[in-house]
Amino acid sequence: MEKKKVVLVTGCAGFIGSHLVSKLLKQGFQVMGLDNFDDFYPRNIKEKNLAEFIDHQNFTFREFDICRDDFEILEEPVDIVVHLAAKAGVLPSVNNPVDFLEVNVMGTQRVLEFMRNKGIRKLVFASSSSIYGNSKEIPFQEDADVSEPISPYASTKKSCELLIHTYHHLFDFDVINLRFFTVYGPKQRPDLAIHKFVHKIINQQVIQVYGDGSTSRDYTFIDDIVSGIEASIDLVGKSKGLYEIMNLGNGNPITLKSMIDVLFEVFGPTELEYVAKQPGDVDITYADISKAQKLLNYSPQTSFFEGILKFKEWYALEGALKV
Ligand SMILES: NC(=O)c1ccc[n+]([C@@H]2O[C@H](COP(=O)([O-])OP(=O)(O)OC[C@H]3O[C@@H](n4cnc5c(N)ncnc54)[C@H](O)[C@@H]3O)[C@@H](O)[C@H]2O)c1
Repeated sequence: MEKKKVVLVTGCAGFIGSHLVSKLLKQGFQVMGLDNFDDFYPRNIKEKNLAEFIDHQNFTFREFDICRDDFEILEEPVDIVVHLAAKAGVLPSVNNPVDFLEVNVMGTQRVLEFMRNKGIRKLVFASSSSIYGNSKEIPFQEDADVSEPISPYASTKKSCELLIHTYHHLFDFDVINLRFFTVYGPKQRPDLAIHKFVHKIINQQVIQVYGDGSTSRDYTFIDDIVSGIEASIDLVGKSKGLYEIMNLGNGNPITLKSMIDVLFEVFGPTELEYVAKQPGDVDITYADISKAQKLLNYSPQTSFFEGILKFKEWYALEGALKV
């Protein structure tokens, strides 16, 4: 029987990372996870995410800061790196660009050097739809001009793609840069709109709507994203000379107003207050997913309504974690 690959997942205690690790362990992969419990949101939420699989015999965890800790201590063999660790979020990056640059760009540079020194040549990287900025060409295609990002977060993700390409060129890294489109579902980061709004509804607080409600996001359910990452691990693992950028979206943008309507239908209403658009926010994200369909057999399965029902199931169970 073919020996299962060893996958190193950075940011394994976060929203996407913990879903990914859980799935990889179910598929029989050996997984090493790194996370520093960055204080962007509470540590207890990330510990709870990890608790699901921390004792799994094929999982090892290290509390590790990709910006500061010594990669030399990671002695276990690794076949593929999935690099998710980052500071995420548009407005926080406008308020704190230096931290974003340090973690996202320098952190990624350090991960690349670790891989180079250890002879690991397979990488799947978490990029973002935000790098398309306010591109007028929709749906967004991977070969679009992304030289005009409108937030520090987007700039850092584009910078990472550039650094990674350099390592592909110089050191034969096989790479897929995945551009995720607004990921939602159980365990979603508490700063993201759906999670934040549901919390407000449950507590009968006012929801602040940025802009007039007409901005759109291509919300993508977490299980679909994880399937896309898994397929990328598979493709990277068996390829030579691979460098690809792929959108992982849903291909079906939903306006902010429609998103709120669905939340009201599922959770009940609360008061809305319309306020100015946030700096750095793009008007629309809309993925052309044909490339991922072709190369990864990627095919999102979860409608927005179904995804919100699954979020509700989780939210009801995890009440104690509400922040
Ligand atoms: N969630 C989305 O909608 C979305 C969209 C596009 C791209 N992404 C990208 O996907 C990745 C995962 O996002 P997420 O939503 O799961 O975020 P998350 O914040 O839940 O997960 C990121 C994890 O990285 C860890 N981390 C941060 N700095 C670190 C450091 N210096 N060393 C080690 N670990 C560190 C954090 O503690 C956290 O657990 C990120 O790179 C993010 O930019 C997410």
